[in-house]
Amino acid sequence: MIEFANKVAVITGAASGIGYALAERFAHEDMKLAIADIHQPSLDEAAAKLRASGATVLARRVDVADSAAVEAFADAVFAEYGAVHVLCNNAGVGLMPQNVWEASLEAYAWLLGVNLFGVIHGVRAFVPRMLSGGQDGHIVNTASMAGMVSGGAAGGPYAASKHAVVALTESLYTEFKLAEAPLSASVLCPGWVNTAIIEHSARDAPGNAAGTGARTAVEVNDLANVPGVYAPSFVAGQVVDAIRDDRFYILATQDDFLGWMKMRHDRIQDGRNPAVPRRRP
Ligand SMILES: NC(=O)c1ccc[n+]([C@@H]2O[C@H](COP(=O)([O-])OP(=O)(O)OC[C@H]3O[C@@H](n4cnc5c(N)ncnc54)[C@H](O)[C@@H]3O)[C@@H](O)[C@H]2O)c1
Repeated sequence: MIEFANKVAVITGAASGIGYALAERFAHEDMKLAIADIHQPSLDEAAAKLRASGATVLARRVDVADSAAVEAFADAVFAEYGAVHVLCNNAGVGLMPQNVWEASLEAYAWLLGVNLFGVIHGVRAFVPRMLSGGQDGHIVNTASMAGMVSGGAAGGPYAASKHAVVALTESLYTEFKLAEAPLSASVLCPGWVNTAIIEHSARDAPGNAAGTGARTAVEVNDLANVPGVYAPSFVAGQVVDAIRDDRFYILATQDDFLGWMKMRHDRIQDGRNPAVPRRRP
Protein backbone atom coordinates (compact mmCIF):
# COMPACT_ATOMS: atom_id res chain seq x y z
CA MET A 1 0.00 0.00 0.00
CA ILE A 2 2.21 2.81 -1.24
CA GLU A 3 0.03 5.04 -3.42
CA PHE A 4 -2.55 7.08 -1.51
CA ALA A 5 -3.85 9.47 -4.17
CA ASN A 6 -7.48 8.88 -5.20
CA LYS A 7 -7.78 5.91 -2.84
CA VAL A 8 -10.37 5.68 -0.06
CA ALA A 9 -9.69 6.06 3.67
CA VAL A 10 -12.29 5.15 6.31
CA ILE A 11 -11.83 6.58 9.79
CA THR A 12 -13.98 6.03 12.87
CA GLY A 13 -13.93 8.51 15.72
CA ALA A 14 -12.99 11.08 13.09
CA ALA A 15 -14.82 14.10 14.48
CA SER A 16 -11.95 15.06 16.74
CA GLY A 17 -8.48 14.34 18.06
CA ILE A 18 -6.38 11.65 16.40
CA GLY A 19 -9.20 10.57 14.06
CA TYR A 20 -9.71 14.09 12.74
CA ALA A 21 -5.94 14.51 12.28
CA LEU A 22 -5.89 11.25 10.31
CA ALA A 23 -8.70 12.51 8.08
CA GLU A 24 -6.88 15.80 7.49
CA ARG A 25 -3.65 13.99 6.69
CA PHE A 26 -5.27 11.46 4.32
CA ALA A 27 -7.05 14.36 2.55
CA HIS A 28 -3.64 16.02 2.21
CA GLU A 29 -2.51 12.80 0.48
CA ASP A 30 -5.45 13.26 -1.95
CA MET A 31 -7.46 10.37 -0.55
CA LYS A 32 -11.26 10.31 -0.51
CA LEU A 33 -12.66 10.13 3.00
CA ALA A 34 -15.41 8.21 4.78
CA ILE A 35 -15.66 9.43 8.35
CA ALA A 36 -17.80 8.22 11.23
CA ASP A 37 -18.41 9.40 14.75
CA ILE A 38 -21.05 9.09 17.43
CA HIS A 39 -21.29 12.83 18.08
CA GLN A 40 -23.28 14.39 15.25
CA PRO A 41 -22.49 18.10 15.86
CA SER A 42 -18.71 17.48 15.95
CA LEU A 43 -19.00 15.20 12.92
CA ASP A 44 -20.87 17.88 10.95
CA GLU A 45 -18.24 20.43 11.88
CA ALA A 46 -15.38 18.09 10.95
CA ALA A 47 -16.95 17.19 7.61
CA ALA A 48 -17.55 20.87 6.79
CA LYS A 49 -13.92 21.77 7.58
CA LEU A 50 -12.56 18.89 5.52
CA ARG A 51 -14.83 19.72 2.56
CA ALA A 52 -13.82 23.40 2.79
CA SER A 53 -10.20 22.27 2.37
CA GLY A 54 -11.21 20.52 -0.88
CA ALA A 55 -11.64 16.96 0.43
CA THR A 56 -14.29 14.51 -0.79
CA VAL A 57 -16.10 13.37 2.35
CA LEU A 58 -18.82 10.88 3.19
CA ALA A 59 -19.81 11.41 6.83
CA ARG A 60 -22.11 9.18 8.88
CA ARG A 61 -23.17 9.14 12.51
CA VAL A 62 -22.18 5.66 13.70
CA ASP A 63 -21.93 4.05 17.11
CA VAL A 64 -19.06 1.61 16.58
CA ALA A 65 -20.32 -0.50 19.48
CA ASP A 66 -23.38 -1.33 17.34
CA SER A 67 -22.46 -3.97 14.75
CA ALA A 68 -25.52 -3.24 12.57
CA ALA A 69 -24.62 0.46 12.46
CA VAL A 70 -21.06 -0.34 11.38
CA GLU A 71 -22.36 -2.75 8.70
CA ALA A 72 -24.71 -0.01 7.43
CA PHE A 73 -21.76 2.41 7.35
CA ALA A 74 -19.75 -0.10 5.28
CA ASP A 75 -22.72 -0.51 2.91
CA ALA A 76 -22.82 3.27 2.43
CA VAL A 77 -19.07 3.56 1.90
CA PHE A 78 -18.89 0.75 -0.69
CA ALA A 79 -22.00 2.10 -2.44
CA GLU A 80 -20.42 5.55 -2.67
CA TYR A 81 -16.80 4.69 -3.49
CA GLY A 82 -16.81 1.04 -4.60
CA ALA A 83 -13.65 0.20 -2.66
CA VAL A 84 -11.79 0.89 0.60
CA HIS A 85 -8.00 1.00 0.85
CA VAL A 86 -7.25 2.28 4.36
CA LEU A 87 -9.44 1.47 7.35
CA CYS A 88 -8.68 3.17 10.66
CA ASN A 89 -10.67 1.68 13.55
CA ASN A 90 -9.88 4.56 15.83
CA ALA A 91 -12.95 5.50 17.91
CA GLY A 92 -12.22 5.09 21.60
CA VAL A 93 -13.20 6.16 25.09
CA GLY A 94 -11.66 6.16 28.55
CA LEU A 95 -12.78 5.65 32.13
CA MET A 96 -11.66 7.50 35.19
CA PRO A 97 -8.95 5.28 36.68
CA GLN A 98 -10.60 3.05 39.27
CA ASN A 99 -9.80 -0.29 40.81
CA VAL A 100 -10.54 -3.33 38.66
CA TRP A 101 -12.99 -4.66 41.27
CA GLU A 102 -14.79 -1.32 41.61
CA ALA A 103 -15.53 -0.37 37.99
CA SER A 104 -19.17 -1.15 37.28
CA LEU A 105 -20.25 -3.78 34.76
CA GLU A 106 -21.99 -0.99 32.88
CA ALA A 107 -18.64 0.79 32.60
CA TYR A 108 -16.86 -2.36 31.41
CA ALA A 109 -19.57 -3.06 28.83
CA TRP A 110 -19.43 0.49 27.49
CA LEU A 111 -15.63 0.68 27.36
CA LEU A 112 -15.14 -2.75 25.79
CA GLY A 113 -18.09 -2.12 23.46
CA VAL A 114 -16.38 0.92 21.96
CA ASN A 115 -12.65 0.17 22.31
CA LEU A 116 -12.65 -3.55 21.52
CA PHE A 117 -15.95 -4.41 19.81
CA GLY A 118 -15.72 -1.18 17.79
CA VAL A 119 -12.53 -2.57 16.25
CA ILE A 120 -14.05 -6.04 15.81
CA HIS A 121 -17.13 -4.58 14.11
CA GLY A 122 -14.96 -2.49 11.78
CA VAL A 123 -12.84 -5.48 10.80
CA ARG A 124 -15.86 -7.73 10.26
CA ALA A 125 -17.80 -5.15 8.23
CA PHE A 126 -14.99 -3.94 5.97
CA VAL A 127 -12.27 -6.59 5.66
CA PRO A 128 -14.26 -9.30 3.81
CA ARG A 129 -15.30 -6.75 1.19
CA MET A 130 -11.77 -5.34 0.97
CA LEU A 131 -10.47 -8.89 0.43
CA SER A 132 -13.01 -9.69 -2.25
CA GLY A 133 -12.16 -6.40 -3.99
CA GLY A 134 -8.64 -7.75 -4.38
CA GLN A 135 -6.95 -4.35 -4.07
CA ASP A 136 -4.01 -3.40 -1.82
CA GLY A 137 -5.12 -2.08 1.53
CA HIS A 138 -4.15 -1.47 5.12
CA ILE A 139 -6.00 -1.68 8.44
CA VAL A 140 -4.89 0.55 11.32
CA ASN A 141 -6.40 -0.28 14.69
CA THR A 142 -5.93 2.27 17.44
CA ALA A 143 -4.78 0.73 20.71
CA SER A 144 -2.51 2.69 23.06
CA MET A 145 0.79 2.37 24.91
CA ALA A 146 -1.64 1.29 27.67
CA GLY A 147 -1.82 -1.91 25.60
CA MET A 148 1.94 -2.40 25.89
CA VAL A 149 2.79 -1.65 29.53
CA SER A 150 1.77 -3.02 32.93
CA GLY A 151 -0.81 -1.04 34.85
CA GLY A 152 -0.76 2.46 33.44
CA ALA A 153 -2.34 5.75 34.30
CA ALA A 154 -5.55 5.06 32.41
CA GLY A 155 -6.54 2.13 34.65
CA GLY A 156 -7.15 -1.61 34.28
CA PRO A 157 -10.34 -1.65 32.20
CA TYR A 158 -8.85 0.73 29.61
CA ALA A 159 -5.56 -1.21 29.59
CA ALA A 160 -7.46 -4.48 29.10
CA SER A 161 -9.32 -3.06 26.12
CA LYS A 162 -6.11 -1.83 24.52
CA HIS A 163 -4.09 -5.02 25.20
CA ALA A 164 -6.93 -6.85 23.46
CA VAL A 165 -6.69 -4.57 20.42
CA VAL A 166 -2.93 -5.19 20.20
CA ALA A 167 -3.45 -8.98 20.34
CA LEU A 168 -6.32 -8.94 17.86
CA THR A 169 -4.36 -6.84 15.40
CA GLU A 170 -1.24 -9.03 15.67
CA SER A 171 -3.45 -11.99 14.70
CA LEU A 172 -5.04 -10.01 11.89
CA TYR A 173 -1.60 -9.16 10.48
CA THR A 174 -0.44 -12.79 10.69
CA GLU A 175 -3.63 -14.06 9.08
CA PHE A 176 -3.31 -11.62 6.16
CA LYS A 177 0.24 -12.86 5.53
CA LEU A 178 -0.75 -16.54 5.84
CA ALA A 179 -3.61 -15.97 3.41
CA GLU A 180 -1.26 -14.07 1.05
CA ALA A 181 -3.87 -11.32 1.10
CA PRO A 182 -3.11 -7.93 -0.46
CA LEU A 183 -3.97 -6.37 2.91
CA SER A 184 -1.71 -5.52 5.81
CA ALA A 185 -2.27 -4.16 9.31
CA SER A 186 -0.73 -1.90 11.91
CA VAL A 187 -1.54 -1.25 15.53
CA LEU A 188 -1.38 2.36 16.65
CA CYS A 189 -0.13 2.77 20.22
CA PRO A 190 0.05 6.46 21.07
CA GLY A 191 1.40 7.78 24.35
CA TRP A 192 -0.09 11.05 25.62
CA VAL A 193 -1.79 12.96 22.82
CA ASN A 194 -3.35 16.37 23.26
CA THR A 195 -7.03 15.61 22.67
CA ALA A 196 -10.27 16.03 24.60
CA ILE A 197 -10.82 12.28 25.08
CA ILE A 198 -11.54 12.68 28.79
CA GLU A 199 -14.22 15.30 28.22
CA HIS A 200 -15.70 13.36 25.28
CA SER A 201 -15.86 10.17 27.33
CA ALA A 202 -17.62 11.96 30.17
CA ARG A 203 -20.04 13.42 27.59
CA ASP A 204 -20.90 10.08 25.97
CA ALA A 205 -20.72 7.56 28.82
CA PRO A 206 -24.06 6.02 29.77
CA GLY A 207 -25.15 7.00 33.27
CA ASN A 208 -22.14 7.18 35.51
CA ALA A 209 -20.06 4.76 33.42
CA ALA A 210 -17.10 7.10 33.01
CA GLY A 211 -16.80 7.21 36.79
CA THR A 212 -16.76 10.22 39.02
CA GLY A 213 -14.23 9.26 41.65
CA ALA A 214 -12.69 11.73 44.06
CA ARG A 215 -10.05 12.57 41.47
CA THR A 216 -11.27 14.57 38.50
CA ALA A 217 -10.16 14.02 34.94
CA VAL A 218 -7.91 17.03 35.10
CA GLU A 219 -6.24 15.85 38.31
CA VAL A 220 -5.63 12.44 36.77
CA ASN A 221 -4.21 13.59 33.47
CA ASP A 222 -4.47 17.06 32.11
CA LEU A 223 -3.44 15.97 28.64
CA ALA A 224 -2.61 19.42 27.32
CA ASN A 225 -0.03 19.89 30.08
CA VAL A 226 1.63 16.47 30.16
CA PRO A 227 5.32 17.09 29.33
CA GLY A 228 6.16 15.86 25.83
CA VAL A 229 2.49 15.43 24.85
CA TYR A 230 2.06 14.86 21.10
CA ALA A 231 -0.10 16.87 18.75
CA PRO A 232 -2.63 14.63 16.97
CA SER A 233 -1.07 15.67 13.64
CA PHE A 234 2.24 14.11 14.73
CA VAL A 235 0.47 10.78 15.32
CA ALA A 236 -1.26 11.04 11.92
CA GLY A 237 2.15 11.49 10.31
CA GLN A 238 3.41 8.37 12.09
CA VAL A 239 0.44 6.43 10.69
CA VAL A 240 1.01 7.52 7.10
CA ASP A 241 4.72 6.64 7.34
CA ALA A 242 3.92 3.23 8.84
CA ILE A 243 1.41 2.40 6.08
CA ARG A 244 3.98 3.42 3.44
CA ASP A 245 6.68 1.26 5.06
CA ASP A 246 4.29 -1.57 6.04
CA ARG A 247 5.39 -1.20 9.66
CA PHE A 248 3.16 -2.99 12.18
CA TYR A 249 3.90 -1.36 15.54
CA ILE A 250 3.31 2.39 15.63
CA LEU A 251 4.55 3.29 19.09
CA ALA A 252 4.92 6.44 21.13
CA THR A 253 8.50 7.57 20.80
CA GLN A 254 8.47 9.11 24.30
CA ASP A 255 11.30 7.46 26.28
CA ASP A 256 9.28 6.78 29.43
CA PHE A 257 6.69 4.71 27.56
CA LEU A 258 9.35 2.73 25.70
CA GLY A 259 11.15 2.16 29.03
CA TRP A 260 7.95 0.93 30.74
CA MET A 261 7.29 -1.41 27.82
CA LYS A 262 10.81 -2.86 28.02
CA MET A 263 10.50 -3.20 31.80
CA ARG A 264 7.29 -5.22 31.38
CA HIS A 265 8.83 -7.51 28.78
CA ASP A 266 12.01 -7.99 30.86
CA ARG A 267 9.98 -8.84 33.96
CA ILE A 268 7.86 -11.38 32.08
CA GLN A 269 10.94 -13.00 30.59
CA ASP A 270 12.77 -13.03 33.94
CA GLY A 271 9.77 -14.52 35.75
CA ARG A 272 9.35 -11.45 37.94
CA ASN A 273 6.04 -9.94 39.03
CA PRO A 274 4.70 -6.62 37.66
CA ALA A 275 6.38 -3.48 39.01
CA VAL A 276 4.24 -1.74 41.65
CA PRO A 277 4.46 2.07 41.67
CA ARG A 278 4.45 3.86 45.04
CA ARG A 279 0.98 5.14 44.19
CA ARG A 280 -1.38 4.95 41.23
CA PRO A 281 0.49 6.56 38.32
N1 LIG B 1 -5.32 11.03 23.64
C1 LIG B 1 -4.46 10.14 24.08
O1 LIG B 1 -3.57 10.45 24.89
C2 LIG B 1 -4.53 8.72 23.57
C3 LIG B 1 -3.48 7.86 23.89
C4 LIG B 1 -3.50 6.56 23.45
C5 LIG B 1 -4.55 6.10 22.68
N2 LIG B 1 -5.58 6.92 22.38
C6 LIG B 1 -6.68 6.38 21.57
O2 LIG B 1 -6.82 7.15 20.41
C7 LIG B 1 -8.16 7.03 19.91
C8 LIG B 1 -8.70 8.41 19.59
O3 LIG B 1 -8.82 9.13 20.81
P1 LIG B 1 -8.53 10.69 20.91
O4 LIG B 1 -7.52 10.87 21.96
O5 LIG B 1 -8.33 11.28 19.58
O6 LIG B 1 -9.91 11.16 21.58
P2 LIG B 1 -11.13 12.03 21.01
O7 LIG B 1 -12.17 11.99 22.06
O8 LIG B 1 -10.67 13.35 20.53
O9 LIG B 1 -11.57 11.18 19.73
C9 LIG B 1 -12.33 10.02 19.84
C10 LIG B 1 -13.56 10.17 18.95
O10 LIG B 1 -14.28 8.94 19.00
C11 LIG B 1 -15.68 9.26 19.06
N3 LIG B 1 -16.41 8.16 19.66
C12 LIG B 1 -16.50 7.82 20.97
N4 LIG B 1 -17.32 6.77 21.13
C13 LIG B 1 -17.73 6.42 19.88
C14 LIG B 1 -18.60 5.40 19.40
N5 LIG B 1 -19.22 4.56 20.23
N6 LIG B 1 -18.79 5.34 18.07
C15 LIG B 1 -18.19 6.21 17.22
N7 LIG B 1 -17.39 7.20 17.62
C16 LIG B 1 -17.16 7.30 18.95
C17 LIG B 1 -15.74 10.52 19.92
O11 LIG B 1 -16.94 11.25 19.70
C18 LIG B 1 -14.49 11.28 19.43
O12 LIG B 1 -14.80 12.16 18.37
C19 LIG B 1 -8.93 6.27 20.99
O13 LIG B 1 -9.06 4.90 20.60
C20 LIG B 1 -8.05 6.40 22.22
O14 LIG B 1 -8.25 5.35 23.13
C21 LIG B 1 -5.59 8.23 22.81
